[in-house]
Amino acid sequence: MSAWVGFRCTQCAKELPPEAEAGLCPSCKGILFAAYDTAALARRLGRRDFEARPPAMLERWAELMPVRDAATFRRVSLGEQASPLLESEPLARAADVSRLLLKMDAQLPTGSLKDRPMSAVMCGAVERKAPVVCMASSGNAGASMAAHAARAGLQAVIGVFAGVPAAKLCKIRVHAPTVVQVAGGMDDAEEAIQSLARRGHWFNGEAFVNPYALEGEKTIAYELAIQCGWDPPDAVVFPLGSAACVVASYKGFQELAALGCIGKMPRLIGVQFSACAPIAAAFAAGQTQVARFQRTPSFSSTLMHEKPFAGELALRIFRETGGIATAATDDEVRAAMGLLGQGGIFAEPAGAIALAGVMRLRREGRLEPNLRVACLVSGNGLNYIEAAPQGGKLTEPLPLGAIQSMAPEALLS
Ligand SMILES: Cc1ncc(COP(=O)(O)O)c(C=O)c1O
Ligand SMILES: [Zn+2]
Repeated sequence: MSAWVGFRCTQCAKELPPEAEAGLCPSCKGILFAAYDTAALARRLGRRDFEARPPAMLERWAELMPVRDAATFRRVSLGEQASPLLESEPLARAADVSRLLLKMDAQLPTGSLKDRPMSAVMCGAVERKAPVVCMASSGNAGASMAAHAARAGLQAVIGVFAGVPAAKLCKIRVHAPTVVQVAGGMDDAEEAIQSLARRGHWFNGEAFVNPYALEGEKTIAYELAIQCGWDPPDAVVFPLGSAACVVASYKGFQELAALGCIGKMPRLIGVQFSACAPIAAAFAAGQTQVARFQRTPSFSSTLMHEKPFAGELALRIFRETGGIATAATDDEVRAAMGLLGQGGIFAEPAGAIALAGVMRLRREGRLEPNLRVACLVSGNGLNYIEAAPQGGKLTEPLPLGAIQSMAPEALLS
């Protein structure tokens, strides 16, 4: 049974019961975190219990989810399991760290980490009997929401900015939601959907506006901890846009520490595209507030939040954990995509940016070499094939006879 006791405001500490609206703090408009009675839970639940359960993404952690009925998990789930954690020696060498682990969220059912927040959001929508769910998205979250809404039998409205990559629009539309194209950027799409949600009384799944989203996303931390034998990596490196995956993972590690499952908090590191790096800029300047960033062109359309709503909370987390917010250029991310590809992994730009960030931090000497580092590979390269570096050799179309008379080694030179 869930140990969920309600919500707590991250800004004014106001406490609200589980029945409260799943939105921002009614007193100060701050971000609400779902709260659990971890003290009571610590007496009856520990590492062994989690280890003994099947690795279902949310249900394994049912006591730490804001979900009342176990049947809800199954109604919503697309079969999500813990994503693999791969160790790569060649990439560790390339990045010049002692151990490099890749958390493979690119392998989740709709091809990105967004299956975590969206499955929890859909559980909330089902239990609150919301008929319509909505979300602004650079594509991945929209696809995951559309898929989970279709699975659960709810109607979905997805806001995208015009110019969203074709594969992302395709993987949204296959589930037949309503798609609203918003002229402008990611921040405009979010505002547009917030306005529709308010007036239509729809269940907005956006992270921070909806506390369920972080509850799903925090399973990144739970899985990393259990996959590392409850000894989390020295540093965990995330793509950084809205900061949802960083904030959620922080919450997850904190909860595991409160339960006595882990003894240390890893350093949390976030990597933005240089083209849109408001949090990295504030971090570098030693500021506690995040100013709007004037975005410049980039090959990525993801992580393009010019004024992230949770920027200040993210800055606090980077500093508290001894972490860093930094940025990587398009070229650095392209190079990281190529390296991952040569290691057997196809990541989209936002899925490769964590590795690009580690490489830059090592080059700049801002990260020690003797660390065990985990990078979140958050999105599949198939989401954005236009951005993929094309390596290896591609011959012209050759007649069969020419191939049959060719020396095989000629193809390998
Ligand atoms: C592939 C990928 N990685 C990461 C993120 C999100 O990062 P954040 O949680 O900071 O918004 C997104 C969001 O669209 C994404 O599509
Ligand atoms: Zn508040």
